[in-house]
Amino acid sequence: MSENISDRISRVALIGTGFVGSSYAFALMNQGIANELIMIDLNEDKAKGDVIDLNHGKAFTTNPTLIKYGTYEDCSNVDLVVICAGANQKPGETRLDLVDKNLKIFKEIVDAVMASGFDGIFLVATNPVDILTYATWKYSGLPSERVIGSGTILDTARFRYLLGDYFNVAPKNVHAYIIGEHGDSELPVYNSAYIGAIPIMKFIERNDNYKKEDLDDIFIRVRDAAYEIIKSKGATYYGIAMGLARITKAIFSNENSILTVSAHMNGHYGEDHVYIGVPAVINRNGIREIMELDLSEEEKQRFHNSANTLKQILAPHFD
Ligand code: 2OP
Repeated sequence: MSENISDRISRVALIGTGFVGSSYAFALMNQGIANELIMIDLNEDKAKGDVIDLNHGKAFTTNPTLIKYGTYEDCSNVDLVVICAGANQKPGETRLDLVDKNLKIFKEIVDAVMASGFDGIFLVATNPVDILTYATWKYSGLPSERVIGSGTILDTARFRYLLGDYFNVAPKNVHAYIIGEHGDSELPVYNSAYIGAIPIMKFIERNDNYKKEDLDDIFIRVRDAAYEIIKSKGATYYGIAMGLARITKAIFSNENSILTVSAHMNGHYGEDHVYIGVPAVINRNGIREIMELDLSEEEKQRFHNSANTLKQILAPHFD
């Protein structure tokens, strides 16, 4: 009998059990997405405490996850390594301000994971995520389809939530993407955005209650959402953790779902030598395919500028 790919044991190693990492573990456990979860952190006590705390919830779950404390050596036989470790933004800092600190941390982490004999998929969440996903690809030597960044998955979710609220439809019926850098140069794609199956611009033309200018305000709120949250509570974590759980589920259930992740450009959208947020088909092998949206001339230019912003940051660090 042939093996059903989605019935395989699914093992995750989580590196970094701070706010984002531990919220991801909580989401994974609640949704019963993985069979095993190994939690790794420089701060052993924090990781061990999280393991005990999460295991106490096991009695409340339907598809319990085996959760253990571990070290880098334990990555040898996991399917997915999720990296949430690193410094995060202080109020007023941009994501790109973190690059030097986090590149150093990533070199150590990725080298240690690869030294274990790991041969699975990396999922990177630490900021600046597009830069650190590229670094993970370079440092690991794994094929680019097996190195995925969370990219603009959260920005797209924020966009769908706010558009859903504006048009009074469920966010899942809003088909609209934020692409580009997960950061200040990202952009909304209105040229290929739909409410149900109706192009968003037609939806606005047909109804006097809606205005294009309101969409521009919604995008600004999406782009600046993290600044607002960091100002009010110091960090963002639930949204990104749920986004990471969503990508994990798409991988382990071999879903072929389209999610906006940071993916390696190899001529896609006219770009190369960069990881950047675009819609991509995700399955058990990682990134199956990048979806090339139909962009307007202005959107093409903005995407190109966003890719250039990232390339300028990468240039001094990689050939
Ligand atoms: C976020 O967008 C800070 O990248 C994080 O919530």
